[in-house]
Amino acid sequence: MMTKVILDVDTGIDDALAIIYGIESKKVDLVGITTVNGNVPLHMVNKNTRKVLQLIGRTDIQVYPGADRPLLREPEHEYRVHGTDGIGNALDDVHLEEAEDNMFAPDFIIEQAKKYKGDLTVILVGPVTNLALALRKEPKIAEWIKEVIIMGGLVSEAGKGNKLPNSEFNIFADAESAAIVFHSGLEVTLVSLDVTMKTFMNLEHIEKLKGTKYYDFVLNSTEVFRGFSQKRYKKNGCALHDPLTVGYFIDPSYIKTEKYFVDVETVSPLGYGQTICDFRNIWEKEPNVNICVDVDAERFVNDFIETLKQAK
Ligand code: BDR
Ligand code: CA
Repeated sequence: MMTKVILDVDTGIDDALAIIYGIESKKVDLVGITTVNGNVPLHMVNKNTRKVLQLIGRTDIQVYPGADRPLLREPEHEYRVHGTDGIGNALDDVHLEEAEDNMFAPDFIIEQAKKYKGDLTVILVGPVTNLALALRKEPKIAEWIKEVIIMGGLVSEAGKGNKLPNSEFNIFADAESAAIVFHSGLEVTLVSLDVTMKTFMNLEHIEKLKGTKYYDFVLNSTEVFRGFSQKRYKKNGCALHDPLTVGYFIDPSYIKTEKYFVDVETVSPLGYGQTICDFRNIWEKEPNVNICVDVDAERFVNDFIETLKQAK
């Protein structure tokens, strides 16, 4: 039997690409998608996620709305990267039926963890608020969930964050929730900027999709994102943060991981959301997070493009 998966998103351009990649790979047995406030406010995340499912042709996959704000701090959104609607206005023409009245995301996570004990993986590509709320309500999910794969953080390259010099957006967007998750006993893998920034999809890659199902969406939705990268990193393309996180589930051999003790800063305004990895075991704490130390970027980006290309 294939491991069951919940994908938690804050759709978001690369979230949209991650949803498409996961579903079109046919290697992710999704029991549902949960949503969280992040790149854009929750109601927009819900809409974007449902539009993406419509584009794929999988409206049978249910969307479970989750937290509409971080645990403690005020929401901060990321319109600069994802555009005014969160997906570069690429699906303006998609008409949505009224949403079903699905249960609250943290409750869905608890329900599924209990149902598939030991056989459920949760992939989170936004702030981890839903998982933190679920852990607070039912701490036993830390034993029931097989593995948690999170896109977030920065561990080895000081100063190369994307929200603060040392902080990555998803962890910064709700560091208190990240702290709860890191200290929960869950088996956590952190797919951080250290590796995701190496998986860059440029215009040449996108052109390979010409004439196929997702060409228009990938080209149009990424325009703002590519413009932002051009300005900041002098590269016209998108880092495939969220797709790589799904990619690690599909084929763990894309990434080399090592386990260390990792904690998250929640106090300092200069370093809020920084993920600190104790490489030298100075704190003498038990390792709690698998961090990513290397990635086979080319093989992954090629597989990502090929998967989208063959989709009907
Ligand atoms: C992460 O932040 C979001 O803007 C992206 O969707 C991705 O999950 C990258 O730091
Ligand atoms: Ca995201």
